[in-house]
Amino acid sequence: VKERIVQDKGLDHTLKLLEEGYPFIKNRMDLYKCNMFETHIMGKKTVCISGEEACKIFYDEDLFQRKGAMPKRIQKTLLGVNAIQGMDNKAHKQRKLFFMSLMTEDHQKKLGELFENEMEASADRWTNTEEIILFREARNILCKAACFWTGVPLPESDVESRADDFCAMIDGFGGVGPRYWKGKAARNRTEAWIEAIIEDVRQGKLTVKADSPLHQMAFHREPDGSQMELQMAAKELINVIRPIVAISTYITFTALAIYEHPECHDELVGGDNKYFEMFVQEVRRYYPFTPFVGAEVRKDFNWNQYEFKKGVLVLLDVYGMNHDSKIWNSPDEFQPKRFEEQKNRTFSFIPQGGGDPGKGHRCPGEGITIEIMKASLNFLVNKIDFEVPDQDLRYSLSRFPTLPESGFIMKNIRKK
Ligand code: HEM
Repeated sequence: VKERIVQDKGLDHTLKLLEEGYPFIKNRMDLYKCNMFETHIMGKKTVCISGEEACKIFYDEDLFQRKGAMPKRIQKTLLGVNAIQGMDNKAHKQRKLFFMSLMTEDHQKKLGELFENEMEASADRWTNTEEIILFREARNILCKAACFWTGVPLPESDVESRADDFCAMIDGFGGVGPRYWKGKAARNRTEAWIEAIIEDVRQGKLTVKADSPLHQMAFHREPDGSQMELQMAAKELINVIRPIVAISTYITFTALAIYEHPECHDELVGGDNKYFEMFVQEVRRYYPFTPFVGAEVRKDFNWNQYEFKKGVLVLLDVYGMNHDSKIWNSPDEFQPKRFEEQKNRTFSFIPQGGGDPGKGHRCPGEGITIEIMKASLNFLVNKIDFEVPDQDLRYSLSRFPTLPESGFIMKNIRKK
């Protein structure tokens, strides 16, 4: 078969990727009018793919594996070295089902309630201050709620610094130099903290409810019957808490969406659950968060008249698919109503990964994310009044991950 893949011109495109940011893959697909191309990232041959059909092959475990796909620098900041994201086959399935058992509807509901209570309590404080930065407040609230929910003790005086560390881990993955070092240091501190807590639970020095994620993680057994290694248990518990704190990014974008789209206001006031759901789905589609996901070709195979060679890195363009006119009408417009139509979007709407979370690597936290976003949306629209002072609300597409520059400042907050 003659290879017909487009080659990205030049030797290595790591700098271009960092310069162009989120639209890097889509820019080239639009330019070359294709749905895949070959490039070099960090000296490694990399194939970028996009679209629903591409997503289906990407989540075919016979064709792709995660082992070896994730750069060490991302493991040392965002994910934790050798944790669930880099696992394959049976070991991955077992670990994943365990994660999902921590995120049942009941568990989800409990976390939602904790979050709402914390929001209420914080709002009392907000009414007594001139202004707040929503991103900062949201990440502290989520950090508190996540720790309480998992069973991790967190004194009030430590909330700010622990939330700082969770955010630095998230922020570190796309950074070079200081941002990377900060993320790495934050991870080391957080792992040491959580390891000590798990050790205390194992030794009976700290008692927590048997169904709490902390207890479950502390006494989880590997498929061979052995207790999970302490370091790994800590990394995986962090893999539960850290992404909950990360929902603060989506909360900030939700506030921005409310502000930027007054035309949605009437439907949001006293709005029903269905409209809230459509609105937060549109926030997850429209605003940038996950740029792409990566995997390594497991064995040689042919797709789209191209020979995928074992060991090659493949990036699936999450951001690009959220703005792809083959998938969405007027993709660059914010239109919650587009989600009115019930459609199977398993492989076409993938802000937190595609496919079946129980079988592949799709995020197990989507239910939690959507519930918390809906609660925040309702809170911002129906529970408080506030003003949005002049500020820089722009977000840069060339920064991984991004956020409105000001973090969304709110002023003169009053409870309704
Ligand atoms: C995996 C995004 C919230 C836990 C993922 C993946 C993405 C993602 C893109 C990888 C998908 C893949 O590799 O194919 C997000 C975003 C979130 C979020 C944007 C919003 C803030 C959460 C929450 C939790 C969570 C709230 C847990 C409570 C995980 C775990 C994995 C994962 C454990 C690894 C799954 C695996 O490798 O099998 N997430 N996530 N995430 N997420 Fe999330």
